Amino acid sequence: MSKKNTNSRLPRSKGIDMGTFYETKDCAKKVKRIVLPPAHRQIIEEFITIFGMKDTFEQYDVPIPNKMILFGPPGTGKTLSAFYIATRLELPLILVRLDAIIHSHLGETGSNIRKIFDYAKGSPCVLFLDEFDAIARTRETTPKSFARVKPQSPQGAMNRFLPIN
Ligand SMILES: Nc1ncnc2c1ncn2[C@@H]1O[C@H](COP(=O)(O)OP(=O)(O)O)[C@@H](O)[C@H]1O
Ligand SMILES: [Mg+2]
Repeated sequence: MSKKNTNSRLPRSKGIDMGTFYETKDCAKKVKRIVLPPAHRQIIEEFITIFGMKDTFEQYDVPIPNKMILFGPPGTGKTLSAFYIATRLELPLILVRLDAIIHSHLGETGSNIRKIFDYAKGSPCVLFLDEFDAIARTRETTPKSFARVKPQSPQGAMNRFLPIN
């Protein structure tokens, strides 16, 4: 991680940081006791292998598949998996809670997302967009009437993360 990002502050919304920055060593500590079912491990290993071929993809001008969507009920290891992938890629993790950057004012949410992406582009990292389904809320006249759009999966919460470098 370059000094630039470590020292520069995460963008803020509504007076709070829009995300949390974790150094690779902090990610490694969190995943010490992770147990991955074989099917999950295989998906993650394939992702890491492909990401390791970044230079070859670039050489042939092919966009690298560097994004993954995680879905499942709360507590099933989506966030932990993001820490694990950051550890394996030896990259820091920026954990963004999307529900924290959703804004009721038209245009503010887009602006917040842009700020986060600009920040993440500052140096190589894994950008983890937690509570991703929050972005698909319906826009109503009052914030109270916001409702979560039910994800396509019956399981509920959805997250998305992408390594940026
Ligand atoms: N694969 C796993 N291996 C070990 N512990 C796990 C695993 N998945 C979840 N846990 C435990 O459950 C807790 C909640 O997991 P978390 O990743 O926050 O779930 P989610 O993001 O899907 O809601 C973790 O802090 C950890 O203690
Ligand atoms: Mg989570």
